[in-house]
Amino acid sequence: MSLFRPHPLRSTLSALFLGTIAGAAFAQAPAMSVGDLTIKHKIGQLQQSNTDAKTLAEIPEDLKAAIRASRVGSILNVGSPEVANELQRIAMTESEARIPLIFARDVIHGYRTIMPTPLGQAASWNAELVQAGARVAAVEASSMGIRWTFAPMIDISRDSRWGRITESFGEDPYLTSVMTVASVRGYQGDSLKDPTSIAATAKHFVGYGAAEGGRDYNVTYIPEPLLHNVYLPPFKAAVDAGVATIMTAFNELNGVPASAHDYAINTVLRGEFGFKGVIVSDWDSVLELVYHGYAEDKKQAALQALKAGMDIEMVSTTMQENLTALLDGGQVTEAELNAKVARILDLKHQLGLFEQPYTKGDPAKSILTPEHKKLSEELALESLVLLKNEKRTLPLAKNVKVALIGPLAHAAHDQLGSWVLDAKKQDSVTVLDAFRQAVGEDKLFYSQALYSSRSRDTKDFAQALEQANKADVIVFVGGEEAVLSGEAHSRADTRLPGAQEQLIRELKKTGKPLVVVVMAGRPLALNDVIDEMDALVMAWHPGTMGGPAIVRLLRGDAEPVGRLPVTWPKVTGQMPIYYNHPSSGRPASEGNFTQMDDFPLEAFQHSTGHKNHYIDIGFKPQFPFGYGLSYSSVQYSDIKLSKTAIGVDGELKVSAKITNTGSRPVTETAQLYIRDLVASSVRPVRELKSYQRLTLKPRESKRVTFTLRGEDLAYYNQKVEYVVEPGEFHVWIAPNAEEGLRADFIVR
Ligand code: GLC
Repeated sequence: MSLFRPHPLRSTLSALFLGTIAGAAFAQAPAMSVGDLTIKHKIGQLQQSNTDAKTLAEIPEDLKAAIRASRVGSILNVGSPEVANELQRIAMTESEARIPLIFARDVIHGYRTIMPTPLGQAASWNAELVQAGARVAAVEASSMGIRWTFAPMIDISRDSRWGRITESFGEDPYLTSVMTVASVRGYQGDSLKDPTSIAATAKHFVGYGAAEGGRDYNVTYIPEPLLHNVYLPPFKAAVDAGVATIMTAFNELNGVPASAHDYAINTVLRGEFGFKGVIVSDWDSVLELVYHGYAEDKKQAALQALKAGMDIEMVSTTMQENLTALLDGGQVTEAELNAKVARILDLKHQLGLFEQPYTKGDPAKSILTPEHKKLSEELALESLVLLKNEKRTLPLAKNVKVALIGPLAHAAHDQLGSWVLDAKKQDSVTVLDAFRQAVGEDKLFYSQALYSSRSRDTKDFAQALEQANKADVIVFVGGEEAVLSGEAHSRADTRLPGAQEQLIRELKKTGKPLVVVVMAGRPLALNDVIDEMDALVMAWHPGTMGGPAIVRLLRGDAEPVGRLPVTWPKVTGQMPIYYNHPSSGRPASEGNFTQMDDFPLEAFQHSTGHKNHYIDIGFKPQFPFGYGLSYSSVQYSDIKLSKTAIGVDGELKVSAKITNTGSRPVTETAQLYIRDLVASSVRPVRELKSYQRLTLKPRESKRVTFTLRGEDLAYYNQKVEYVVEPGEFHVWIAPNAEEGLRADFIVR
């Protein structure tokens, strides 16, 4: 079951472009071929500069001068189409080289209509919807002159202390790869020449999400087999999907900073994966080779990055300052420089910038349209994960009186989440707005209760409890403000911040059903408070239309379909935690676990089970990867294999019956996992290989069938060879990474 096919046109397109660059005609001036450019102009194409100018008056004079001297090839963060067009006008009519600029920006989960954060989007397991969300982002951003986004972020993350997990698609290589392809296709459309298409960037290459301790920018040690089996597959999927650019990461990988990692970039990305697009550094990451202690000065940093394959330097100017000397000294050849410039010009040609350098978009017609907001609401709805629902607390009866309590119930800014550079909080529809719309003021009793998600000031608790006592049910909306996740915002303690746990306990003392909705950039450690909750919904940061999505779900006007894209820990100390872990020689299980409070006094040192667990919290997560409840109930039965033995090139079909045994419709995400029982390199106890979403009416059954091929069982062994090894395998069709129906087969 091959994941993705290489993009058939890309190599043809590049060859076509390089042959015809001199022929490309555009209004302002003849196109330049690489050979026509001076060394200075070539070097200029490698420079990406930053400005946040929103008006012509704000454009810095030194930036204009740099453009006139053709010392800039692309610009990030321009703040308006007017500024973009003015800078482009200078480039096309006043500069020496007359090469169009590309304007780039972080459009991570929406430009002005904000979708759920990528981690939330992954929880939908709905690639079509994620692709549609990226398309909306491209239409809105391109209307503002942006033609290059630094997204999707596809770093695998197994540790939600890491703030940037919110930007990722979670812990699994397969699910991340599916969402990567969807995002690339959404941003880039059918052709980059389409003025509503924007070049996508697969980032951060590579291993950034493995930051030790979950602390952003920290060191990463990833053995090569693991790198190939877990962290690289989404980048392979991005390349095969035709991603236009790739951004290198801040972290050092096994002692070499990723932005100068010759092996990862030249051997793997360019060599093995065949990536022919542009490679851009992350902000100052080339200069930071000096701070890593890898380059002795900026000149060496420039040389290291150039030799490792870097094409464009974002913001820092080590190449701009040193390339002439490096060329004069023969450390870099003009042919190496030409190859980089050709890729950059190829990208500009693909975007049609030689023919149409100016943005003609009409933001008023493209931004925050009813269709875009509707899509944002649907994607938010499908991102919501129902994690607990005791005594059928949810869905709420239509006529109940609701106490809506909590610091994020009316959080127009925070529900948008991290990396929302162009969003405006006044666009948001909050949970309070949506509840007012749905139930009216006479059945709704609201209290923010805490000034912010971090507040420890309990002065308003009495008022909140007063509101709670007027209602039939309490809906608490808390979690993390947007700024508590994202870049540089890792947390060493991932519990609910501030006095939220205390507030939840106080609310539960009222004896009323308590529904908790968490908005956060990561799964939170709820071990100390989850028993107070009758129902729990994870809303991530749901975006502009998060309020209506949440209220529709709570009131049963929509079914919960979300499934976790990450393993949910009980406590922070369990991390890193992920489902696709090897067995260890002493795999933990219920049978050999004694919780430390149950140790007898003076228990003998070797008396309490020598297994791979913690004596305080055990060995299970709060909720497993792939987990999520519905308002109905689903039964998996009758797993069947078409064969119980296949060759390495063979295939078999595995199917199971899935029945909606409840009284409400359900959308079930049936997940296909495998396990290679014995291999020359220990393999995970489960690996996701595919999934299917199926909608079932009440009492309806459907048989779901997967095709499993030998190549789907391949992995990188100790010698980093991609192999399928004969032996015994387990296969599951499952609702999550801990349950499901198992069948066994062998590979001969
Ligand atoms: C940031 C981020 C990167 C982003 C870039 C440009 O530091 O690491 O993801 O695209 O700078 O804003």
